Amino acid sequence: MSAYSFTVFDELTEDKGQSYPLQRGQTLLKNMLIHKISTHSKCGGKAICGHCRVKIISAQSHCNKPVAEEKIHLSEEQIQQGWRLSCQLYCLKDITIYFPTQDEITHSSSFP
Ligand code: FES
Repeated sequence: MSAYSFTVFDELTEDKGQSYPLQRGQTLLKNMLIHKISTHSKCGGKAICGHCRVKIISAQSHCNKPVAEEKIHLSEEQIQQGWRLSCQLYCLKDITIYFPTQDEITHSSSFP
């Protein structure tokens, strides 16, 4: 049993959120896939597509620092706002994220 969890807010869960056990040592993308959460990933977690982005709502300090590959897909402002690539994001404790729609990702200002 996992001692920590990640909570996902999206357009379906709205203000309630849905919590899942967190497997530390796995990326957030992998954790989402383990729990059969549909993702927008197009590159399988190789930091190429930029479609796996999520926004950390709380506990950003519980995560690894953004890696160089994330800075290709996300502006400094977006990173400051909490946006990360879930395929590069490792969480050490409880975390809450916002999972955007594909439309939000496509219309993001720094999306290539
Ligand atoms: S899954 Fe493609 S960049 Fe993360």
